[in-house]
Amino acid sequence: MMSHGVSRRRYLQVISAAPAAAAWQTSTDEDRERRMKWWREARFGMFIHWGLYSVLGRHEWVMENEAIPVAEYEKLAARFRPKPWPAREWAALARKAGMKYMVMTTKHHEGFCLFRTETTSYCAPKQAAGRDLVKEYVDAARAEGLRVGFYYSLMDWHHPDGAHCRNDEAARRRFVDYIHTQVRELMTNYGKVDILWYDVAWPLDAEGWESLKMNRMVRRLQPDIILNNRSRIPEDFDTPEQRIEASKGRYWESCMTMNDSWGYHRADDNWKNPKQCLRQLITCARLGGNFLLNVGPMPDGSVPPESVRILTEMGAWLSRNGASIYTAEPCTLTRSNYMSFTRKGNTLFAHVHYWPGSVVTIAGLRNRVLSARLLASGTPVKFQQDEFRVRFVGLPEAPPDHPITTLAVECDGEPRQDTEHVRVNRPRAGV
Ligand code: GLC
Repeated sequence: MMSHGVSRRRYLQVISAAPAAAAWQTSTDEDRERRMKWWREARFGMFIHWGLYSVLGRHEWVMENEAIPVAEYEKLAARFRPKPWPAREWAALARKAGMKYMVMTTKHHEGFCLFRTETTSYCAPKQAAGRDLVKEYVDAARAEGLRVGFYYSLMDWHHPDGAHCRNDEAARRRFVDYIHTQVRELMTNYGKVDILWYDVAWPLDAEGWESLKMNRMVRRLQPDIILNNRSRIPEDFDTPEQRIEASKGRYWESCMTMNDSWGYHRADDNWKNPKQCLRQLITCARLGGNFLLNVGPMPDGSVPPESVRILTEMGAWLSRNGASIYTAEPCTLTRSNYMSFTRKGNTLFAHVHYWPGSVVTIAGLRNRVLSARLLASGTPVKFQQDEFRVRFVGLPEAPPDHPITTLAVECDGEPRQDTEHVRVNRPRAGV
């Protein structure tokens, strides 16, 4: 039984892990493949963090990180009066940016619901806003042909039982019923929902939240839905935050901010530039994951101008270079000082972010190059190849595309790079 090089320790891990893992499944692998098909191809989505915190404009954790009393914080609900239909601007911008789906905070940790709920009056339709902002969002996203995701925070700083639930069973019962009811409302009142994106499960574990029961209910109401991994059970996909990390054998999506805050933060001026954001998208595509890039609308719902600028530039680039991103398959090439790579079949996409001038060189490519072209214009590119390097020559001194130039390189097999081969075998000088 332990032949074929499987250690006893590993064998025990496998047999002991299998039944436990199965007990936390709310879907079969086969059904997951079916449900995830659009998501796999979508690659790029818009995260929206919006709530009462936007009125203060000091980050979505302002309530906790300034220890604002609940009674004082609640008053923001009277000042939160968004302009008509801001979600139409978000959705139009998302489509223009080349994004295929959106995920909006229906309730963040502050506990204020942007949707109509029977469970509390602390919700947009029953406060100054006077409207169901989740409904507006769903309609706007659908109108632009985008898939619809709901972010929902399990942790709740407003609910009276939100903290006591961890050591008081009666409080836990009330709080979990409250949460499950809200999740049921979200899954019932808005037509088809494509993603449910749970966040922070403090202070309970999966048993305390009754996550299995909750997610089975979700799947009954929304048979095609995709669930993330933050209800303390793994479900459909992992969610590395502010970093890019491929999960082995699991779907994953990196979520990131464009500055240092998810919610609107007036003074946070640490904006990335469009090139940095595109490089992150390219890295996600290379590693086979999705990229969820955040927008923190202002209290009236407007998108900060810096975010508009970044997303517009990303969209323009994707309209010329999207073929290298949306249907990309995992790519193993990494080595270069000025470009990164994606791949589809035998086509290698070399994304040059620091343009070197008339010659662009890849070291250690183990395939024969058949042809090359600039992806944006289709202009053929000449090349010279030997055992150690391929040089793309006769290119302009200035980068032909902006902010990244992509070369599409047809190879005679799946592109593979071996720089060790170069180091070991490249003829050396005599001493
Ligand atoms: C965190 C933060 C939060 C943000 C989220 C996005 O868990 O608490 O503010 O919504 O990450 O991934």
